[in-house]
Amino acid sequence: MLNLPEYPPRLTLARTPTPFHYLTRASDQWGGGKRLWIKRDDLTGSALTGNKVRKLEFFAAHALNNGFRTLVTCGGLQSNHCRATALVAAQLGLRCHLVLRADDSDQANTGNFLLDQIAGATYEVLPAVGWNKALQSAYERLEQAYLDAAEPALMIPTGGSDSLGIWGYIAAAEELGRDIATHHIDRAAVVLATGSAGTQTGLTAGVALAGLPLEVVGYAVCDDARWFNAKVNEDWQAARRRWPQLPAVMVEPVTRDHSAGPAYGIAPPEVYKLIVDLARLEGVVLDPVYTGKAFLGLLRDIREGFFDGVDDIIFVHTGGIFGLFAHEHSLIQAAS
Ligand SMILES: Cc1ncc(COP(=O)(O)O)c(C=O)c1O
Repeated sequence: MLNLPEYPPRLTLARTPTPFHYLTRASDQWGGGKRLWIKRDDLTGSALTGNKVRKLEFFAAHALNNGFRTLVTCGGLQSNHCRATALVAAQLGLRCHLVLRADDSDQANTGNFLLDQIAGATYEVLPAVGWNKALQSAYERLEQAYLDAAEPALMIPTGGSDSLGIWGYIAAAEELGRDIATHHIDRAAVVLATGSAGTQTGLTAGVALAGLPLEVVGYAVCDDARWFNAKVNEDWQAARRRWPQLPAVMVEPVTRDHSAGPAYGIAPPEVYKLIVDLARLEGVVLDPVYTGKAFLGLLRDIREGFFDGVDDIIFVHTGGIFGLFAHEHSLIQAAS
């Protein structure tokens, strides 16, 4: 074990440690002789379900300690991260403003977007075409407007993935270290969905910092492996500059490419079928945007021998339940 670094200020918002358990029937059906385990980060909270709240523990502490009264963040209309941010802001008496990317769903006021509105977040919706540029100018405009009003806002990037957000999963890696010790797992692969890479960066760095016998494998749900590997390296380097207490461990991202499907938020029929199959097999519900795609990639990689070097595989369920409700039609088809 290496010495873990001193953490930045943090609030307790997530219900941790999250459960860790063996997937008996899924291992029998799909494991090919390997043991499949699950880390239930979908149980970090009820409305706060998922991986994002672990990152927000650090963003929220930073906001409170530095006089930010508003959290601004961004994502798709059904962003889990935006929903979690809106609820954390409400919980702490902060304001929240969301910059949302329009999608083609005919069921706009459902799932995460419905919760954003219940939580009292203000929002603006920008077209998907030209999103990156429009987002950048919206952030510049909003940051200036809050400054002009003498009420600076904390501008949180997509997915909460930056040098501060990664601490959430550095901490989660420590938690996983305790889980594998409890369950006498000597060595394992840790598998997760990657959408903006903060979770993967934190886990990969956390495993290296704690010297754990784990190999972290991210499944890209959009973009590609090259992009995510570069993003992990970039966020890790930024973290080392910002937090000099971080030791210079090797952080080597491993990202798998073939899970993205037609596009972000659009899943092939196999993903919907797998969501239904796993729900009926284990009572575990995945989502079509992140975890369903990653789990499908995992099963394919098991079949194709990518995990031949390990006996144990841990799937980190990063949440996403509310995103299901914007995919009602495809899911009903798969379920019937
Ligand atoms: C349910 C779920 N799983 C996985 C991810 C991916 O996490 P990250 O953005 O840190 O890569 C996200 C967010 O993007 C998410 O909402």
